[in-house]
Amino acid sequence: MLADHLARLPRLELVPTATPLEKLERLSHHLGREVFVKRDDITPFALGGNKVRKLEYLAADALAQGADTLITAGAIQSNHVRQTAAIAARLGLGCLALLENPIDSHDRNYLSNGNRLLLDLFAAEVELVANLDNADQLLAEAAERLRAAGKRPYVVPIGGSNALGALGYVRAGLELAQQIKHSGQPFAAVVLASGSAGTHSGLALALEYALPGTRVVGVTVSRPDATQRPKVEGLLQRTAELLDIAVPATLRIELWDQYFAPRYGEANAATLAAIALLARHEGLLLDPVYTGKAFAGLLDGLAKQAFAGNGPLLFLHTGGSPALFAYHSATAI
Ligand SMILES: Cc1ncc(COP(=O)(O)O)c(C=O)c1O
Repeated sequence: MLADHLARLPRLELVPTATPLEKLERLSHHLGREVFVKRDDITPFALGGNKVRKLEYLAADALAQGADTLITAGAIQSNHVRQTAAIAARLGLGCLALLENPIDSHDRNYLSNGNRLLLDLFAAEVELVANLDNADQLLAEAAERLRAAGKRPYVVPIGGSNALGALGYVRAGLELAQQIKHSGQPFAAVVLASGSAGTHSGLALALEYALPGTRVVGVTVSRPDATQRPKVEGLLQRTAELLDIAVPATLRIELWDQYFAPRYGEANAATLAAIALLARHEGLLLDPVYTGKAFAGLLDGLAKQAFAGNGPLLFLHTGGSPALFAYHSATAI
């Protein structure tokens, strides 16, 4: 059983109970199709989101290795870096964050509000870098510098997306499979944002094990299919190896890459419309970088009849709303 394999790996408990699966009543009525959300935006730690689940495994590993500092990297408005800084604070560890400005923004809110403001509150040390094209190398160099200064650093990869981090979404996928079974609903698809790929890889692997044939649609937020696919499939393979299980032969990765333009971290009109739609019908907050784009994909897929039958849709809400405060000028619609 996959759950037994997972239980063998150490985990720091930050998400003790299942996040809710909720029906969006007013939106479903408006769209003429039932839509449910899995509320991973309210994982109970430092304003929530998907990264908490990855950090359950990564932080446990850092502690097992006797680390005294977490190092990670991301955009200035990274939710992942916010969560990593928060967990470092919770565990009494230092945190070094290498940050890039992927949209060359000079906006005061982008540079200092939202997630970036929280890094200061969590007392993370911040280093701005020109870009993160060679993130692994930059992280390794930063770790070397800290070691030379007598520290014991632990590198958390971008997005928390290595096999260990993806375990968080294997666990979430098993949790979701139970919820789907209990709901009795014939869901047509699970839709989520696919970025550094740990969420997508872990979830797809677990769902194919626990509920074979469940359709999982990853809406890319930073890359076309051609470069995102090897990331998702490679990580899925490494996650299966870590768990000592085989990747099910039936597993197919589905990517929709028409919704991230103009680029990572920059919202388009459909992103903003999706954010406004959810806010106005449900009082539910999406974000301009990840979930706004993924939900725009869901809406467009619905309009294009890309979801067969008339079963309900399930959106994995991965969080990110702290970035709304950083994108004030872009989201003022
Ligand atoms: C709010 C939010 N949703 C989705 C994602 C994408 O998850 P992943 O990087 O695992 O693909 C991220 C990653 O940073 C995120 O912050």
